[in-house]
Amino acid sequence: MKETKLAELMQQMTTEEKIGQLTQIKGDAFFSHQPNTGPKTHDLVLTESQLWQVGSLLNVAGYQKVKQMQDAYLAHSRLSIPLLFMGDVIHGYQTVFPIPLLQGCSWNPELVAKCAYISALESGYAGIQVNFSPMVDLVRDSRWGRVLEATGGEDPYLASLYGASMVEAYHQAGMACCAKHFIAYGAVESGMDYQFVDISRRELFSYYLPPFQSCIQAGVDLVMTAFTTFEGIPCTVHPWLLNALLRQKLDFQGILISDYSSLVETIAHGYSSSSKEAAFYGISSTLDIEMMSDCYLSSLSFLFDSGFVNKKLLDESVWRILSLKNRLGLFENPYGLANEEKEKHFILSAENLKTARLFSSESFVLLENKHHLLPLTSQSKIALIGPYADNQGISGAWSIYNEKNQNTVTIKQAFLERNLDFLYAKGSSVLPEEEINFILSMEGNSPISPSPSSTLQEMQQEAIEVANQSDVIVLALGEHYKQSGEGASRSMIDLPSIQLDLLRLLSSLGKPIVVLLFSGRPLALKEVVPYLDALLWVGFPGTEGGHAIGDVLFGDVNPSGRLTMSFPQTTGQNPLYYNHYSTGRPADQHSPYRYTARFQDIPPKPFYPFGYGLSYAEFEYKALTLSKTTLSLDLEKNDSLTVSITVKNSSSIAGKETIQLYIQDCFASVVRPVKELKHFQKVYFAPDEEKKISFTVTLSDLMFWNQDLAYIVEPGEFKVFVGRNSEDTLEAKFVVSPMSN
Ligand code: BGC
Repeated sequence: MKETKLAELMQQMTTEEKIGQLTQIKGDAFFSHQPNTGPKTHDLVLTESQLWQVGSLLNVAGYQKVKQMQDAYLAHSRLSIPLLFMGDVIHGYQTVFPIPLLQGCSWNPELVAKCAYISALESGYAGIQVNFSPMVDLVRDSRWGRVLEATGGEDPYLASLYGASMVEAYHQAGMACCAKHFIAYGAVESGMDYQFVDISRRELFSYYLPPFQSCIQAGVDLVMTAFTTFEGIPCTVHPWLLNALLRQKLDFQGILISDYSSLVETIAHGYSSSSKEAAFYGISSTLDIEMMSDCYLSSLSFLFDSGFVNKKLLDESVWRILSLKNRLGLFENPYGLANEEKEKHFILSAENLKTARLFSSESFVLLENKHHLLPLTSQSKIALIGPYADNQGISGAWSIYNEKNQNTVTIKQAFLERNLDFLYAKGSSVLPEEEINFILSMEGNSPISPSPSSTLQEMQQEAIEVANQSDVIVLALGEHYKQSGEGASRSMIDLPSIQLDLLRLLSSLGKPIVVLLFSGRPLALKEVVPYLDALLWVGFPGTEGGHAIGDVLFGDVNPSGRLTMSFPQTTGQNPLYYNHYSTGRPADQHSPYRYTARFQDIPPKPFYPFGYGLSYAEFEYKALTLSKTTLSLDLEKNDSLTVSITVKNSSSIAGKETIQLYIQDCFASVVRPVKELKHFQKVYFAPDEEKKISFTVTLSDLMFWNQDLAYIVEPGEFKVFVGRNSEDTLEAKFVVSPMSN
């Protein structure tokens, strides 16, 4: 529709109709024509006429369902303005890809984009028009359950790269998308979800903002606010964050949407004293859509009529919403991409599953491989043990449209397909029954079905018998998939103790043990690693998880994943991130000294650092050289130098290596991080192949936010590090000179 027609349409709308556009409710309640109840913290009850005026629905999918809803809605809509269907397709629709945290470990933005594209098409054919992805929150504390959603992990550069690739991929598929959660949600105090956040503006600009900026530059359509606060004001109504920073400084022209009932929650925060006030703060901060609460519905009319708020703000919001509907072509075709034929044939297609399998295997991170135990030969007699060995829960917790995981390939199933000589025993449940039932009860779910016929001792005994008949034990362990995700913070990020008991028991048999570790977060593995020989972190790998695990275990795929979040020594080492600031008393790993920045009871380093991951191949790094050692401080010229390094695959196995380049600004007007990732290349090496790898470092790579929040480069000394992870690098120095050379 032409913009002029759209403007005409808007002129015909009543104030009530306009306010309706600003409200989003859950689809199912809408469909059943029942009052919409049961949001997490608030009851939402709409009148019949309000129901037929809401602008968008949340998390409804399936061609038939969407079509029926849209048709029913349009039959009631006076001006035939179509509904917008929004949803969370976080790591796949029916073809479930690895959880985002694991996806990021592929260090492969093209593959991340390809999977975003497939997810968009699968869910688009099923009627979803807007995806609440990418989540670009920076994460530093693995107690927080939502670290599993962070494709970029603890690094702003990776988060920016992945965020933009996902936005582009969604757009290519014809789907609109939403960057979330604005902002600094990942900085919740002590990793506890929804808790207080207190960071400085400089910290915000340096670490948390770049991924949003990158999504906005890529044309993201919506931004979702965070549940949390910034400088003591809830992000959902923060005038400086939303008006000054997002709209004005970053020039974000798209739709701002609250998180699930986060507008009404400003009352619980003790910021708004009533729904009226919440609505006032929301609309004044240019918050366009209120998700799952009714402050706008109940109060905006009053605020306009009494002159507290200028109606211009309403018109601007409605315009942004109608413009998106128009951009998606919904006035001509209200079903968007929805297509019954394509839904049938494209969803879970062989091609999509092939990509999912490839992606999972490319993301797994090999953490230990003592005596080159992996890859296994298919001749070995294997004991496949563990609560995740034959468990479709390996898909992960944010695949909400495929909760039953019926198509998920388990490890046992994949082993059967490979005709392996193996015996299976469960060995233990993921958690003791009372613990999982407590977690389920917190969501109002009924307890798991009555306890298994065998007791824990019987399960352990069976595992021992199976292990005794085998050459090698493959043990599938991990946290419960319900232990990560939203509202799933943990105060102890250990492997559940019943599983550690099983591992210890089996290790006493003296057989080699490969642990496949399932989790939505880095776990504290200090107590685990001494009992195993090989360790592969598989996150929650999605529909094709079993196949992909088989591919890596038996060497069809050489693992090439690298961590994007540091694994801590213990829970108490959190928050932990490689790009921390320099301290006046840095700890020396080799010479412990009390009065330095360290904990007494653990080494002053992560258990596995950022960027870490092993391969079946061996790579040597040598000859780090710089094309010059002085850059001139002329921002217009954006002076650059070339950093080169020689990398050799010194093994007879082909493999991919991720060569990482970090920079440290040694002295500056504000304290700078000890290092920051600036570039990387994921490169394929044939057996014995040697390659010279080059990177261009420019002045732009050296910029930072100073004390006055100016983005600058300062002259002085810099270090450049190149290597296989954030700790194992070669280094060189260069200077930025105020004089031109
Ligand atoms: C989450 C969002 C999500 C929304 C809608 C909220 O609880 O924080 O990430 O997009 O629900 O499902």
